[in-house]
Amino acid sequence: MVSRAAWLYIVVVVAITGVLVATSRPTSTHVPHPIIVLIVLQLLFLVCDSAKTPLTSRQTKWSPSSAATLAAVILLGPMAAAFVGAVSVLSLRRQLLIAERLFNGAMYALCGLAAGAAYVKLKGPVKVPEFGDFPKIAVAFAVAATVHVVANHTLIWGVYRLNRGSGMLRREGLESSLPLLLASDLGYACLGLVIAALWMIMGPFSAVLVLVPLFVARWAMGQFAEQQRAYAATMNALCQAVETKDYYTRGHGDRVSRGAVMIARQIAMSSDRTDAIRFAGMLHDVGKLGVPTQVLQKTGPLTEDEYAAIQLHPMRGLEIVREIGFLYEALNGIMHHHERIDGRGYPMGLAGHEIPEFARVIAVADAFDSMTSTRSYREAKSIPMAIDELRRGAGTQFDPLIVEAFIKALDVEEWPLSAPARAPADLTIVTVQDHDDPTAPLQVVIP
Ligand SMILES: [Fe+2]
Repeated sequence: MVSRAAWLYIVVVVAITGVLVATSRPTSTHVPHPIIVLIVLQLLFLVCDSAKTPLTSRQTKWSPSSAATLAAVILLGPMAAAFVGAVSVLSLRRQLLIAERLFNGAMYALCGLAAGAAYVKLKGPVKVPEFGDFPKIAVAFAVAATVHVVANHTLIWGVYRLNRGSGMLRREGLESSLPLLLASDLGYACLGLVIAALWMIMGPFSAVLVLVPLFVARWAMGQFAEQQRAYAATMNALCQAVETKDYYTRGHGDRVSRGAVMIARQIAMSSDRTDAIRFAGMLHDVGKLGVPTQVLQKTGPLTEDEYAAIQLHPMRGLEIVREIGFLYEALNGIMHHHERIDGRGYPMGLAGHEIPEFARVIAVADAFDSMTSTRSYREAKSIPMAIDELRRGAGTQFDPLIVEAFIKALDVEEWPLSAPARAPADLTIVTVQDHDDPTAPLQVVIP
């Protein structure tokens, strides 16, 4: 589905591109057989555009097709660069909607035209480059490549904003992967210069030569993305297993993971650590798999032995997932998420900054989600009430800096409140206690 506003935007982009291309004139070039050069670059663009590579589990994808457009800028000029970009409309990706094809064709044509115009304006020579040309080409090409990347992302951002919530141009996680996309796009843009430079020696084969390492890299990225998806599926399966056992905490792992990521972004954690804390949030209670179900679902107060069994879950969690190599720092979050800043938590009784940062972050997200979720024996607290509780616990139970970071993040991002849990008809026993709720009486059992 494409919204009416997005359609209007696409029509405007197509119209502007059409007018600009129709009113521009071909640049004179000394490249032999310019039509053949144009067709080769169009084919190169089409091959690259048709084989986009997914970036990890996020929905973003990249393709090095801009290299073909920018090679055309140097070899043939702005108008030809627009014709190279326009072939995106013929992309062999079958799942594309007509609106996406039209938009992509117009967008890449416009980007090619803008990049070419910048290149010519800065007196970049339109020809097969020779050795002495590079000082003149370098600056003009760098500006052209930047213009291409910026125009590309701006136009995509426009259609994404106007078409949020529909299936077209899904860009989930765009914000977090934008620097990576910009960097990779600029990198691939440089390949345009390589193609143009090699043209003097190899002619059209320079395009083929550039394609080989690109496709090797694409294959490697594809493998990596596949691996990431397998990791995410494994994490989800473990989460599902925990939630099957403890029905009333359904969705808790996902929400704690989201809260931990919100805090991580707020405190400017690196993207690798943010990915790791996402897993830690999902799996923080995986150790409940090692706690007897009748204890997790018991009606009535817990005995001391039963509290002790529950308090073993961080250690059990560590035992379950410690062999999963990619979790690294996430293991600290899983093992120590019930430590308290005042040293009265478990399992180790660590205090202050002895508690690993991941655990301090998860503790806040965990308590907040617990308080804002409905349980069978109590209603959910409102977000302001839960925030008050976090503030009350800052300095004793929670790291005050992490609490403040989370509260700031809640101003910017919406919190996914849990739907009230309903027990299946055949589930008659329900839990009456929640070990994550910071307003529940503190009971620490020393095993
Ligand atoms: Fe826990």
